[in-house]
Amino acid sequence: LKEHNKVSNSLNFYGNTTPSELVKTYGSTVYVYNEKVLRERCRELKNLVSYKNFAVNYSVKANSNPEILKIACEEGLYADAMSPGEIYVNLKAGFDPKKILYISNNVSKEEMQYAIDHGVLTSVDSISQLEQYGELNPGGRVCIRFNPGVGAGHHEKVVTGGKKTKFGVDPHLVPEVKDILNKYDLKLAGINQHIGSLFMDGSKYVEGVQSVLSIAENFDDLEFIDLGGGFGIPYNKLSGQPRLDLKELGQQLDEVINNWVSKYGKEIQFKIEPGRYIVGECGILLGTVHTVKYNYDNKYIGTDLGFNVLIRPAMYESHHDIEVYRESDKPSTQYEFVTVVGNICESGDIIAKERELPEIFEGDILGVLDAGAYGYCMASNYNNRLRPAEVLIQEDGSHRLIRRRDTLEDLVRNFV
Ligand code: LLP
Repeated sequence: LKEHNKVSNSLNFYGNTTPSELVKTYGSTVYVYNEKVLRERCRELKNLVSYKNFAVNYSVKANSNPEILKIACEEGLYADAMSPGEIYVNLKAGFDPKKILYISNNVSKEEMQYAIDHGVLTSVDSISQLEQYGELNPGGRVCIRFNPGVGAGHHEKVVTGGKKTKFGVDPHLVPEVKDILNKYDLKLAGINQHIGSLFMDGSKYVEGVQSVLSIAENFDDLEFIDLGGGFGIPYNKLSGQPRLDLKELGQQLDEVINNWVSKYGKEIQFKIEPGRYIVGECGILLGTVHTVKYNYDNKYIGTDLGFNVLIRPAMYESHHDIEVYRESDKPSTQYEFVTVVGNICESGDIIAKERELPEIFEGDILGVLDAGAYGYCMASNYNNRLRPAEVLIQEDGSHRLIRRRDTLEDLVRNFV
């Protein structure tokens, strides 16, 4: 128990500082990112396959803090964008427009035009949007997202491939696709897919890859194929959950890609588009315990970690490991089952349900691990709460504010 409190697994993560110092300096709650971990993840994925013409498109929806984007850009990653807003921040962070892929879904012509005006390639995901794109940009380059008929994900809400999702073009429509490409003299630069978010076993991914490769055979002269993201991270590390076996997956991909390329006759570029794998593990969300109470049979740990700050547990019942940090020497004498909740006026505001944790006291700081992906970017001002600051632990161990905490004035800024 003492070890869990004082020498937590993650203390190296905080460089020259400590969770309580960070909370004192930047307020609670606060997202903390570790630059070393981020860079390591970027490098691991860049080396996923030995096939040479390979790029990693960071799916910036997972975390688009400009400082995170700059690091990904420095590491040589490309970037995906899901909206003009993401194109805008990617460009501001320094990504070359040629390295950005706009993966659009049900967008307006103005949004397509924004990408065209900024020299960013658009991937369309329906026949009708392909037609609209052709009207806007005849003779231009385009990418098409196909639905490979295969899906995977940690929750049905994030399975994006397969027969029950809104995404992608049904491969049966390849003849119609070809007609529209011809009609507007569009050059099909690439095709992409995304089967869904978070697989820990690469087999579904490889199945999706095989499927998109057979779709690709219908088109001559492609420049690239984007195989999608979804690479999972182990959210249950404290219980020993193993990592995704990237080495094995990389070898399988190499084999499939090399076979396909030798048939296609051209060494086109292959891309992947991971978000979570790049940023998930480099982030910890810190919050503070304000109340410990019993309600009937349950013990509640009342914190400021409401679902306005991290919505994943409330939205997908996602598990995040939690560490307990304490300044005083007061030891926890037991482990117990507690429910960790936030400060939002909804009973679904639960960050960990009936979780076994060392005895927690008021004033303790909790570290919600693996919170770097789909954390801050999904945070809101619900209940007129302030979104947290974001802080970077740099490679030399020092820390730096990379987004200030909201202020009360921010809450009324857009009122007219
Ligand atoms: N590409 C496309 C087209 C996507 O829609 C997504 C994620 C990605 C790439 C990146 O997926 P990743 O490698 O991060 O799994 N909010 C959810 C995840 C939603 C993901 C949506 N699409 C969560 O917190 O688990």
